Amino acid sequence: MDKLDIDRIVFLGRTYAEYMDIFDLDDTLLTKGPVLDCAAGSSSFTAEARQKGFDVSACDVMYGQNSFDLFKKGQEDIRHVFKKFDEAAHQYKWGYYTDKEHVMGLRKKAFGGFIKDLVRNKKSGIYREAELPKLPYPDNAFELVLSGHFLFLYGDRLDRDFHMKCLEELIRVSANEVRIFPLSGLDAKPYEHLGDILEFLSGKGIEAEVVRVPFEFQIGGNNMLRIKKV
Ligand SMILES: C[S@@+](CC[C@H](N)C(=O)[O-])C[C@H]1O[C@@H](n2cnc3c(N)ncnc32)[C@H](O)[C@@H]1O
Repeated sequence: MDKLDIDRIVFLGRTYAEYMDIFDLDDTLLTKGPVLDCAAGSSSFTAEARQKGFDVSACDVMYGQNSFDLFKKGQEDIRHVFKKFDEAAHQYKWGYYTDKEHVMGLRKKAFGGFIKDLVRNKKSGIYREAELPKLPYPDNAFELVLSGHFLFLYGDRLDRDFHMKCLEELIRVSANEVRIFPLSGLDAKPYEHLGDILEFLSGKGIEAEVVRVPFEFQIGGNNMLRIKKV
């Protein structure tokens, strides 16, 4: 087995602290204006960031489902991924997380924080259903757009054109910056069309660079794509 062999795009999420490292964020960046997390899954980043006073929203294709179904799906997906985890153990570098139980505890913590906040803010528009490559937000709506563990990671089932359309859409709703992590697939290999993507963005006059981040779990998965719109 040479990759984390999951047969679906899982409804999973990470905590605020993990996002801060994954996207190399700091509080100053989050105070600059509205932030969007897309596709946010069951991440508690939005909930925790809002508690700290930051203006953060989240969207995901699954948010159209009622909270009971989301609760069920989230629980199932945590179990599903952890069943497969040992098969791909050689892909991971331990240090950021101490062991499998540590990772699982954080996924459960994120999920708990997310679901409580979702129920509390059901009608607020903070959590919106959205299916990339189309987002329900106006141009330049967010200062910063974050996208973790969706693009590039599932490059074995989402093709290059889909990735390009998604990137254009994330850039459209951003007034300043887009950050994407990771740049590798479930097999821990670098996304094969990254060169084409960088060329595509450069052809549109958009500045994009691969930036090292203070997070590594999947071996070699310590880079994000940072796109500057202006
Ligand atoms: C692994 S989760 C990532 C969660 C979170 N961003 C993180 O890094 O912890 C991937 C998410 O992508 C969502 N998704 C799959 N296809 C999508 C699409 N076309 N548009 C928006 N979200 C999508 C799934 O519902 C799932 O919640």
